Amino acid sequence: MVYRYSDFYDDKTVFEQYINQRRSVDNLNDVIEKPILVDLIGNVKGKDILDLGCGDGEIGFDFLNHGCLSYTGVDGSKNMIDFANKNFAGVKNAQFEKSLLQEWNFPTRAYDMVVSRMSLHYLSDSDLLNLFNEVYQSLKVGGEFVFSVEHPFATFNNYSQDYYEVGEQVCYWLDNEVIKVHRKIEDYFNLLQQAGFKIAGLRENRRIDELEGEEKKMPLVLLLKSEK
Ligand SMILES: C[S@@+](CC[C@H](N)C(=O)[O-])C[C@H]1O[C@@H](n2cnc3c(N)ncnc32)[C@H](O)[C@@H]1O
Repeated sequence: MVYRYSDFYDDKTVFEQYINQRRSVDNLNDVIEKPILVDLIGNVKGKDILDLGCGDGEIGFDFLNHGCLSYTGVDGSKNMIDFANKNFAGVKNAQFEKSLLQEWNFPTRAYDMVVSRMSLHYLSDSDLLNLFNEVYQSLKVGGEFVFSVEHPFATFNNYSQDYYEVGEQVCYWLDNEVIKVHRKIEDYFNLLQQAGFKIAGLRENRRIDELEGEEKKMPLVLLLKSEK
């Protein structure tokens, strides 16, 4: 069976493996992605923050500890949302909603900051453009949008083997198959501009000496910051 979107994370074995991997001390997200993301996000004090494809919402604790006003997480996976609700039980100013990002009803001019970590490469170009339009109208004036995705060098190397062959790719991960979308770096850039955003930053992870083989020779994560 080939999974799509959040269905992948609602598979019991995938979910268990994923959470174990994310909870390990040297997991790649915390080592290579989170520090750059946090740097791009900057000061969160007094901000209303929306997290798209929030998973267990772990980063919400960081935001709340640093004084953000509210943290809202949206994710299509029941496993993830149940886990997040359990972890955040009794925590004020945090809320979670289970919904596919393509179907969520975005409130207008509600957020100072929208973030998304390693989730948007599951969406097609047309869904991503719609989502960027929704994010734009859900941000307050001057609001910011920061997201990370699997780097196009990594998606082309792992799945398509041809950088210019964009689109859905079946990817083998955590002993299962899931559809991810390979697109070029300029595609992320162009879709953001089409939605009206000003690009404020583009980052890639540094070389990680501990990695071996191909993974050591190319960036694995692409991060973009844009402004309304
Ligand atoms: C790699 S996990 C990242 C989770 C979290 N952002 C983090 O960094 O810990 C990707 C998440 O995106 C969610 N996701 C993927 N496609 C989605 C979609 N179309 N709508 C809603 N959530 C989606 C999955 O359910 C999963 O929780």
